Amino acid sequence: TTVDADTGDYALGGHPDFLAKEIAEQPDAVRRALAGRLDTRFATTRLGGLELDPRDLRGVRRVLFLGCGSAYYAGEIGAGLVEELARIPAAAEPAGEFRYRNPVVDPDCLYVAVSQSGETADTLASVQELRRKGGRVIGAVNVIGSAIARECGNGIFLHSGPEVSVASTKAVTNMAVSFAMLAVLLGRVRDLSVADGRRLVEGLQSLPGHIAEILERDGEIAEIAKRHAGASSMFFVGRTRCRPVAREGAQKLKEISYIHAEAYPASELKHGPLALVTPEMPSVVLVPDDELLAKNVGTIEQIRARGGPVVAVTDAELPDGLADDVLRVPRTEPELAPILLAVPLQLFARHLAVALGRDVDKPRNLAKSVTVE
Ligand code: G6P
Repeated sequence: TTVDADTGDYALGGHPDFLAKEIAEQPDAVRRALAGRLDTRFATTRLGGLELDPRDLRGVRRVLFLGCGSAYYAGEIGAGLVEELARIPAAAEPAGEFRYRNPVVDPDCLYVAVSQSGETADTLASVQELRRKGGRVIGAVNVIGSAIARECGNGIFLHSGPEVSVASTKAVTNMAVSFAMLAVLLGRVRDLSVADGRRLVEGLQSLPGHIAEILERDGEIAEIAKRHAGASSMFFVGRTRCRPVAREGAQKLKEISYIHAEAYPASELKHGPLALVTPEMPSVVLVPDDELLAKNVGTIEQIRARGGPVVAVTDAELPDGLADDVLRVPRTEPELAPILLAVPLQLFARHLAVALGRDVDKPRNLAKSVTVE
């Protein structure tokens, strides 16, 4: 066969689509995000682009992440990390909501504008509104020189490399990695111990290798995905640290496969969604190996007792036969597990979309960046 540069074959570098390529690039993308930013001597991180000295960092009383789509869900992961590691109240909000609700702008809050493209209209407008009201806003942006990067001035560049596929993958991973570094930084000027700082810095260092291990299971994940290609709807279940991972997993599936999906925290299942659980309604359940392991095992049992098929996504050793299918990831520090558990969900969504013959790079009705309202 011949390779025609005009058709983009070279750019694909042997991958069937840009989505596959960008998922596969994640170990390198994460390595770039971490490069020069881990401080093993003081068990912390260095984020020079923030231009915040230790006193500024200690003055931060709240953190609010603003973004759209997957960038918003990445912000939710970030908020969880900041609260847990720095013990600062943190939250995430869709930028399109923030800009129109006349938000209280708190001078002690650090606002983080999250955007792969740096051009999303609602996120840019939120930054402008914040600056007009004297809020302190930094960017978490991939594209250098983009509107949001310029408007913010300071921030954390994501360094994920160019992303072409409409569904964001490597940029979302680097957002979460960047927020873990931000959380460690904010934590280490407060009460996060040297031992915990070191544990997390080492955990961050091993992420690229762990992601590479997950990618090796691509064929296995494809087989599992194919078995669910007949589903017309799925639940994604995850609690606490994994709640945003469930939301992002559902989003990916909707975007590229057009299968309806909804995310729920496990605790909410009894308050409505269980009524929909049947053999035709698979649930993807996130089961991190953390203090809620037994509760998540219980959730799987409840779903299966109602005949619902379960795909468990886990870094734990689950009892044989607990779930119908298992997507396994390597064990990492519990605070960082959401970063790894999100990766098999990307592959799962892609393989379902491929099995259904979808154009995975250009889903219908969606744009890579929404620069107009
Ligand atoms: C669009 C894309 C999503 C992306 C979102 C935010 O909806 O389809 O994949 O997450 O925009 O884009 P941004 O460039 O601001 O991260």
